[in-house]
Amino acid sequence: MVGINNDILTDVASYYARRIEEHGQTPAGVDWNSQAGQIMRFDQLLKVVDPLQPYSIADIGCGYGALLDHIRQLGQTVRYTGIDIAAPMIEEANKRFAGAEDVTFKLDKSPGEVFDYCVASGIFNVRFSLTDQEWLAYLIETLDMMYANSLRGFSFNCLTSYSDADRMRKDLYYADPLHLFDLCKRRYSRQVAILHDYELYEFTMIVRKT
Ligand SMILES: C[S@@+](CC[C@H](N)C(=O)[O-])C[C@H]1O[C@@H](n2cnc3c(N)ncnc32)[C@H](O)[C@@H]1O
Repeated sequence: MVGINNDILTDVASYYARRIEEHGQTPAGVDWNSQAGQIMRFDQLLKVVDPLQPYSIADIGCGYGALLDHIRQLGQTVRYTGIDIAAPMIEEANKRFAGAEDVTFKLDKSPGEVFDYCVASGIFNVRFSLTDQEWLAYLIETLDMMYANSLRGFSFNCLTSYSDADRMRKDLYYADPLHLFDLCKRRYSRQVAILHDYELYEFTMIVRKT
């Protein structure tokens, strides 16, 4: 597996562990402003899947497992694995879905096997004091991992560099959607879509494997 930077992951894990310890299994507990936004992100990410047939999916940075609730509400049949680097997230997720069939939660930075799809919501946002260059290198290593672990495609979201300048924060990473589109086209697949038409300061990238 690619050597995703462990120092970065330690800081990220402690940040999110504090969020869930403060706010519990709620959107605020995974650092989102609202449930509507959390679900809007899931709907964008799930555009990578073919919902008409059962599929396996790895949720990278699963938090307390809210994506699985949403997939179930949509009535889709899945084998689901959620991974997260923050131990309290995995503890909460395991409590919420105890005994559920075809559902696994793991404290890890990689799913460790190939799934039809890998998706990631919100894992590229908080970059602390790392430079754009350092965070981008980490982001690409993580995309390489998602590419290697997906059979049919993967999707992820990022805050957008098209955000209003006066609302941007130094500790957050605002990715250039055009740069990442180009990177995904050249590095992973010819079939790539940017979804940048929903009401959040971010975009979703869909990468289909051919
Ligand atoms: C913004 S929260 C979103 C949680 C969930 N995806 C949701 O939308 O409800 C990001 C989560 O990803 C986890 N995370 C961040 N970077 C990660 C990485 N490289 N690998 C696995 N988990 C990660 C964090 O611990 C946190 O639980």
